[in-house]
Amino acid sequence: MAVDLTQDGELAVLTLNRPEALNALSFQILRDIGEAFDKVAHMDVRALLITGAGDKAFCAGADIKELRNRPLMDQKTGAELGQSVFAKLDRLPVASVALVGGYAFGGGSELAMACTFRLAAPNAVFGLPEVKLGLIPGYGGTQRLPRLVGQGRALEIIKTGRNVRAEEAERIGLVNAVVEGDLMQAGREIAGKFTRYSLPVLDFARRAVTRAGDTTLEAGLEIEADLSTLAYRLTDAEEGMAAFEEKRKAEFKDG
Ligand code: CAA
Repeated sequence: MAVDLTQDGELAVLTLNRPEALNALSFQILRDIGEAFDKVAHMDVRALLITGAGDKAFCAGADIKELRNRPLMDQKTGAELGQSVFAKLDRLPVASVALVGGYAFGGGSELAMACTFRLAAPNAVFGLPEVKLGLIPGYGGTQRLPRLVGQGRALEIIKTGRNVRAEEAERIGLVNAVVEGDLMQAGREIAGKFTRYSLPVLDFARRAVTRAGDTTLEAGLEIEADLSTLAYRLTDAEEGMAAFEEKRKAEFKDG
């Protein structure tokens, strides 16, 4: 299996484990990633960290050799597979954090962009170089990159297929932070900043924020009002506000 899923306390850790091909995503690996996400949904964890084996790459994208050997009509199936697997991240009850060291190209960048957070090592290099192959991004890149960095920048990055190094990725909002030192430890630390909060409340926040990019302000405010009402009705909101008054830490029960 070229994908390893382990549990580390309250964290699930998914490792793309095909370092000899820079963790390139064969269709089988994509399916394995999808199965792993399904398992995470049922694990007793509060965040998912995603990393790549080896020191050269998070993931060098779709497996080009495999893409090339398949009939053209399968490209749609491939794009639909990649999109549907990465979309599962949105439906996970827990947040996901991509830990990007080295190359994150094509589908590798697209996987990172589908995560809730992205941390990058100083040697991280992002890119959607599909145009160089006569392709366009197919696993969500044309939709998620503009939502993260704006349409003008996204078009430039996709049309030139150029590399985006860690420092620039942080500056333009493609990654949340560049981290010197141990990426896994940094992943644990960022997860530690939200794992004690109520899971349904975190999910309401995610649902409201992700609609900001694809709806009108008026409709988005309505979504926010609805979700904030749902949060307000949970016992966790009672607990959070009581804890404030009683000057203690809230103990949320995810309900
Ligand atoms: N697919 C299949 N194999 C890949 C791969 C990929 N995407 N990326 C790297 N590999 C393989 C190489 O073929 C090589 O295997 P062999 O030793 O058997 O030849 C091995 O991984 C090591 O790679 P390199 O020797 O090329 O390593 P490098 O350090 O010289 O270069 C690199 C690293 C710049 C990342 C280079 O490998 C590269 O450009 N890879 C392709 C990146 C790319 O174009 N990704 C987009 C794919 S298309 C896509 O993702 C479509 C989509 O929207 C989903």
